[in-house]
Amino acid sequence: MSVTPEQLWQTRYGLPPEHTPPAALAALLAHRSVRAYRSAPIAATIVADALAAAQSASTSSNLQAWSVIAVRERERLQRLAALAGDQEHVAQAPLLLVWLADWSRLRRMGASAQQPTDGIDYLEAYTLAVIDATLAAQNAAIALEAQGLGIVYIGGLRNQPEAVAEELALPSDCFAVFGMCVGYPASAGDIKPRLPQSLILHQEQYQVRADEGAQIADYDQRMRAFQSYQGRSDRPWSSIALHRMRDAAALTGRHLLRQALTRLGFRLL
Ligand SMILES: Cc1cc2nc3c(=O)[nH]c(=O)nc-3n(C[C@H](O)[C@H](O)[C@H](O)COP(=O)(O)O)c2cc1C
Repeated sequence: MSVTPEQLWQTRYGLPPEHTPPAALAALLAHRSVRAYRSAPIAATIVADALAAAQSASTSSNLQAWSVIAVRERERLQRLAALAGDQEHVAQAPLLLVWLADWSRLRRMGASAQQPTDGIDYLEAYTLAVIDATLAAQNAAIALEAQGLGIVYIGGLRNQPEAVAEELALPSDCFAVFGMCVGYPASAGDIKPRLPQSLILHQEQYQVRADEGAQIADYDQRMRAFQSYQGRSDRPWSSIALHRMRDAAALTGRHLLRQALTRLGFRLL
């Protein structure tokens, strides 16, 4: 029997919902990152469907300032895995989709029409393209999961953006925002708890709750149970989160992102 949205909600928040969530939410609530895959190949039609979902996402001013590269060659996957901080699941994935913030197409259109494209030089344009690529990727993720595939995003591709750009032959004005490993899950996987909605949702204006610390401590407890069930570190989530953002060194090379982006053609004015 399939898992109900109520059960998925309970797993996500540690408490049952106070209402009945619609059945259509089940696939979304069931998301978990998948890092081990069966060797089964992924049909081209599945990729086409995922791309149609991706291209159906909203896109700022319909500019569609993104592209995606499907990587399947094992040696290239291994090189990208190394660049992403030796992530073995990247080397093993049947498919890696690399989502690009891509202004190169509009630059080419401008050059061919002999029209200026100076707007691309602003931080706003970079932000727009990253948002567009991200919305597209998440739509694809939902489409792939609906077809029984598993995914995991790979932000590690930003550790060395220029080497990734070279590996993928990216033109100027093009940046790999993240990768996405895709494959049929080798095991069911576990749903990771999230912070309570009370810490995320504000009404009308931002308000820091008096019980924020207590709620985070409670989430630490739920995450501790999840991690020990998974046989992983029992360090509290809050300590892991603080450690992850403690200083420049913790960013595993990404503290140099601005300089790398400039060399990739983004002026970020
Ligand atoms: C933009 C982005 C980048 C990520 N980068 C990585 C990564 O490089 N390697 C990895 O194993 N997981 C990566 N993840 C997956 C997160 O760790 C995961 O989504 C988070 O721990 C929540 O777990 P869940 O997806 O199973 O619910 C990334 C997720 C996002 C959204």
